[in-house]
Amino acid sequence: MSLDDALRWDGELTVTRHDRETGAFFVIRLDSTRLGPAAGGTRAAQYASFGDAVTDAGKLAGAMTLKMAVSNLPMGGGKSVIALPAPRKDLAPETWNRILTIHAENIDKLKGNYWTGPDVNTNSADMDTLNETTPYVFGRSPERGGAGSSADNTALGVFEAMKATVHYRGLGSLAGRTVLVQGLGAVGSGIATLAAAAGARILVADTDSERLAWALQLGYTIIGLDEVLRTPCDVFAPCAMGGVLDSSAAANLPASAVVGAANNILADDQAGVILRERDILYAPDFVTNAGGAFHLVGHEVLGWSTDTVEERTRGIGDTIAEVYGISESAETTTDAAARILARQRIDSASLVSTLAK
Ligand code: NAI
Ligand code: PHE
Repeated sequence: MSLDDALRWDGELTVTRHDRETGAFFVIRLDSTRLGPAAGGTRAAQYASFGDAVTDAGKLAGAMTLKMAVSNLPMGGGKSVIALPAPRKDLAPETWNRILTIHAENIDKLKGNYWTGPDVNTNSADMDTLNETTPYVFGRSPERGGAGSSADNTALGVFEAMKATVHYRGLGSLAGRTVLVQGLGAVGSGIATLAAAAGARILVADTDSERLAWALQLGYTIIGLDEVLRTPCDVFAPCAMGGVLDSSAAANLPASAVVGAANNILADDQAGVILRERDILYAPDFVTNAGGAFHLVGHEVLGWSTDTVEERTRGIGDTIAEVYGISESAETTTDAAARILARQRIDSASLVSTLAK
């Protein structure tokens, strides 16, 4: 995507910065602050172009707006992308430290209109580093007073969505069902563990050989990276990167349902239409993966107890069932149905704040 095209966007604000010394390019996008300060994690990855990085930040920020709204959390949606000059694992510690410090300076200049947290290639230790420069950080390590990693809670929410989806699809429970997890990272491994404990057969694919060795020890079946979209399963769980299902993948996917953690699973709207036509039940990611937001915002903003965070996260199963109900009655895709639900919540919250003035 050209930078010109990438900057044509309906969100509220785009902030960019380039650091000549490290070669890193920084993007923060605030999609919406209607429900509260924009929140969303910091993703560090390599991108083919600056335009691609800006575009990705916008899509991810939009997903955060929907996630917060559908989850009834008092935050808006934003996201940071750091386009790295080399793979994260190849960066020297001082380079990574400089990159984080510059990113923290950028966040600080937004004066609390944007709060960050962990995402792909950033963790609680990185949040601690950001917090040396700016207070607007969720997910610091518990020793530093933060809520720590959100991954386990995200996995719990996706698992609840999976159970509700299998039930809605008329397949009963997860016992005896086949679940294919793409990406056995912090969240994917948690989902695999929960689904296996519920009696599912687990198939996994990952680019990392160490994670695959761990999977073998647990008795999971390894699937080649090229086989993922061709392997029959009851539930396909994308838990690596977004954009996994484009129209052609959706037209051929041999699954009954798609329930995963990755943000922006659908590459385009048409993929959702095709899944619906093929009677493959798709659980919108911004509903299923809200357990991370419940963990971070619940603990750090709303002062929730661990029990409340868990209760709200388990409620994702009910929200998903509500989305499927709207999708049937409105004769639309589940993705569009979940957007309707999110939009209703944004509009009614805006109305309440207008009336209160
Ligand atoms: P992670 O980095 O721990 O795990 C990602 C895994 O995917 C790694 O094991 C990696 O080797 C693997 N992978 C990368 N490319 C792959 C490919 N092409 N095929 C198969 N495997 C591949 O990340 P984490 O935290 O588990 O997040 C996973 C997804 O869930 C991300 O898209 C993230 O944005 C999303 N998410 C995470 C939340 C959290 O609380 N951690 C909350 C909401 C969404
Ligand atoms: N990055 C995670 C997500 O996409 C967790 C997160 C939630 C980070 C809210 C910051 C704020 O949901």
